[in-house]
Order: sequence, then C-alpha cells, then structure tokens
Amino acid sequence: MKRSNRIQTIQPSPTLAITAKAKALKAAGKDVISFGVGEPDFPTPQSVVDAAKRALDEGKTTYTPAAGIKVLREKIAHDYERRNRNVSWDEVLVSVGGKHALFNATQVVFDEGDKVIVPAPYWVSYPAQINLSGAEPVFIETDLVSDFKPSVAQITEALSDPAVKGLILCSPSNPSGSVFSASELKAIGDVVKTRPDVIVFFDAMYDRLVFDGEIAPDFVAVNPDLADQTLTFNGFSKTYAMTGWRLGYTIGPKDVIADMAKLQSQSTSNPTTFAQYGGLEALNLDDSVIAVMRDIFKARRDLIVGLLNEIEGVECASPGGAFYVFPNFNHFVGTKEIADDLAFAGFLLEEVGVAVVPGSAFGAPGYARMSYATSDDIIRDGVARIARALDKIRS
Ligand SMILES: Cc1ncc(COP(=O)(O)O)c(C=O)c1O
Repeated sequence: MKRSNRIQTIQPSPTLAITAKAKALKAAGKDVISFGVGEPDFPTPQSVVDAAKRALDEGKTTYTPAAGIKVLREKIAHDYERRNRNVSWDEVLVSVGGKHALFNATQVVFDEGDKVIVPAPYWVSYPAQINLSGAEPVFIETDLVSDFKPSVAQITEALSDPAVKGLILCSPSNPSGSVFSASELKAIGDVVKTRPDVIVFFDAMYDRLVFDGEIAPDFVAVNPDLADQTLTFNGFSKTYAMTGWRLGYTIGPKDVIADMAKLQSQSTSNPTTFAQYGGLEALNLDDSVIAVMRDIFKARRDLIVGLLNEIEGVECASPGGAFYVFPNFNHFVGTKEIADDLAFAGFLLEEVGVAVVPGSAFGAPGYARMSYATSDDIIRDGVARIARALDKIRS
C-alpha cells in the first residue's frame, strides 16, 4: 500500500524500541537488567485508582468536551497558580498525554519552512513531531561540561535566523536530568524578547521531580511578559506515576488553546473520561506523596552517579532532576569492534544483559541514557555488569 511522504520522515521511538527489546529478551529467559524505561517504578497512588473506579461506577463513561472536563482544567489552573503563576481554566487544554499535547501544539503553531531550535540532547519525540508539522528542527549542541544546557550565546546565534519560529526548552531534561535555574531562564527570556514571532515550548513534565527544592523554575513565572509567546507542557505520567493513563496538558494563550482544542475535536476527541477523574484526584494528593518519590529518586541518583564515576573512563554528571543519568561512554566507542554508541548499547545487551538507550537517539552520540527508576539492587547489579563489560573492551 502507498505510504505518505510524511510518515517516511520519522522513525519509531527508540526508547520504546529498546524497552521492548529488553522485555522480549527477558521473556525468552535471558537475565536482562533494563535501564531503558522512562517511567516511575511506583504504582499509581491508590486514591487516584479509586477515583477512576468510582467514575466508572458512576457511569462517567461518555464523551466530555474535547478540551477536557472543566473541573480538571480549573484544578490544573489552580495547581499552577499555587506553585508557579496565575493561569485561568481556559488557558489549559487536557490531552491524551504530554506527548499528544506537544504533538497538537506543533501542528497548530508551525508551518512548512519554519525552523525550530532544539537543544541536544533532546527528548526523542521533538524532532519527529517538528518534522511532521512540516517545520525543520535546528539543533544546538551541548555537552557534559555545559551541564547539557545551551548558552545564551548559542541561543542568540540560533535566533538570528529569521526562519526560526520556535525554541524548545525541557527542564528537568529528558535525557540529561539537567535543570535550568531561574537566572538561566531569565537570560534566555531576555533574548527571546527580541524575537516576538518566536514561540517557546517549555516542557516541564518532570518539574516536581527535582532534588534541590520542591519544583523546577517555570519559564513564564520567571518571564511573565513572555506568557503570550510560551506554551507550557506538563502531565500526570511522571509526577504521579500515571504513564499508562495517558493524561497531559498544555498551558498557553487562550486563542492557541482554543485552536488546539479544535484540532483535538477532529482527531482524538476528549482524553479518556475516567482517566480525567483520576487526574482530578491526583491533584488532591498531599505534597508529601511526591516528596517520598523524590527522596527515593534522589538516593538512587546519588547511588548510580557514584557507581558510574568509579568506572575508569566513564564520566557522569549528577543531574538536578528527573530520573535519568546521561553518562559519557565516548572513551569506549570508535573502535573497530564498537564503532558507535548503537553498537555499544548492543554490546552491553548481548555481553552482560544490560539495556541502555544510546545517546545518538537523543542527538548526543557517545553518551547513553540510563533510567534509575528501578531498585538499588538492580542499579548495583547493572552498573557492576557494565564495569565487567568495559573491562572486556579494555583488555
Ligand atoms: C521530556 C518529556 N516530555 C514529554 C513526555 C510525554 O509524556 P506523557 O506523554 O507520558 O505525558 C515525556 C515522556 O517520556 C518526556 O520525557
């Protein structure tokens, strides 16, 4: 059957692919440790599950408005108000996950010929979604030394191209875990102000999973006069361990939110009704529930960063948020046997049964993303196996 040109521009999500491969090997009886998965290893809080069950029992099984139930939009607005800044309910659109929210937004605001700045390493879906909108991603390279954050000079230079219409910022970042400070966001905001035609996508999916304070700085809270130029993305997957519920949201100017709702009304319709009632309950959870997860992630971060840095030739920064580390394995790639980080990830999986996601999937060859949303024992075992595999390369 004929396929569109559009679909040829994208690849399947490499993070989902590596997780699937590790699962398949496990199912076939191989002893596999996966650092590939991008989801918390905690169950969804019981009160949230109960609220969704209650919604089903109460017959909340029909369509809702395409943009989501008003009470949830209001609650999200209040939650943002409490933590960050004033938001009104009609500046909120609920979608079928944060990924869907970002997809809708790229479709609504970008056109063919537009360029969108994407600092690398980036979350895997940004380039694919930008390509599908007809626009073109333009990458800015960062590295471990710059804490995987673009400098103001790099952003200024990239914004000097009049074809640039978008800038994506992700904080805390997937894959690096880096967090922009308020002053860094302010400095970036000052440059963006010189280009009123540029839209900032601020992806705050992991904003409450930070290890210094309770929440990562919000771009618009720091740059209030950029509210009309910014779309903020957030969701329930990471903060509330609700990845499978598929619930995320966008905050932005009312007219853009209305157009995103229009697109949603012609594509997915509303996010799943009873999932929305679960989301409503998630926003009632006491902050202490999140604090418990955050503390566990912080202890695991310290463990995995310490263990990785003990391995000769491996360099690993200590990230400020999310649940990923992004170690540099460049020392071990570029040989005849292990040509690149893809071969390196394949080697780890075959040699010692450890799954990591190659850095090139995120636009940073030679690195790998490791999710530490797993137990201390698995972290210890997995890193010890990596150390053994690297000994083999050295010998
Ligand atoms: C940076 C980032 N943005 C957005 C998403 C989308 O999350 P979801 O669609 O589960 O809400 C993810 C999930 O992996 C992510 O890591």
